[in-house]
Amino acid sequence: MTYDKSELLYEGKAKKIFSVQGDDQVIWQEFKDSFTAFNGEKKATMAGKGVINQKIASLIFFFFSDQGIPSHWVKDQGEDSMVTKKLSMIDLEVVVRNILAGSTAKKFNILEGTALGEPLVEFYYKKDELGDPFISDDQALMLKVVRAPEDLLTLKKLALQVNQVLKKLFHQAQIDLVDFKLEFGYDREGNILLGDEISPDSCRLWDQQTKEKMDKDRFRRDLGQVLEKYQEVLDRLTNQ
Ligand SMILES: Nc1ncnc2c1ncn2[C@@H]1O[C@H](COP(=O)(O)OP(=O)(O)OP(=O)(O)O)[C@@H](O)[C@H]1O
Ligand SMILES: [Mg+2]
Repeated sequence: MTYDKSELLYEGKAKKIFSVQGDDQVIWQEFKDSFTAFNGEKKATMAGKGVINQKIASLIFFFFSDQGIPSHWVKDQGEDSMVTKKLSMIDLEVVVRNILAGSTAKKFNILEGTALGEPLVEFYYKKDELGDPFISDDQALMLKVVRAPEDLLTLKKLALQVNQVLKKLFHQAQIDLVDFKLEFGYDREGNILLGDEISPDSCRLWDQQTKEKMDKDRFRRDLGQVLEKYQEVLDRLTNQ
């Protein structure tokens, strides 16, 4: 099956979304070279970033297809794009935490790096203009972000399943999976599938030995060697 990119439907901060000629069930997602943080306030462009993130995301989605995790991924296109099923996206960022870091460590004044006995699953309301606030299950139902109340349980179950598989994958690459963000959507039949991307933009990844950061915190916190560390994540995942 070959796909041809058609018109630009949406340009996000990290990807451009195109329609596909003659097939309205799929979309073409092109990874950009741009970095953004703090709700778009901090910006930069680094040549080659899109290719690295596409390779990491598609390697992970390919692995998931073997592990029974339902995702939108259909096919890679060139080095910086992938064709995916078109989903009706759920306006939630589903966050899983294995180790406390970032906003949650700060919120409860717990030292960054504290390991959690059990993974935490949190929902954030995906609305840039509100700054993607934390949202409770009941608030999510009030806002009708899911089609049925039990869909929130499905999201939590899938997020924990993703965590199990992803933790193992990164562990083999000598990387700690600290936390990550997922986005889900409904396919035409109403099934909930994993969408968007999984990459060092959406995960916190620490070197298992040195605890050095290998993710977007290098950009957020001006730690330097941003793309070098993204590339190292890709190399380690590829060479294991
Ligand atoms: N399979 C899919 N079907 C439809 N939309 C998708 C799919 N996967 C991801 N998306 C959406 O496509 C867009 C991807 O672009 P990008 O990641 O650059 O967005 P963004 O700048 O993070 O902005 P935002 O996520 O707030 O819209 C996101 O809106 C994402 O929710
Ligand atoms: Mg995004």
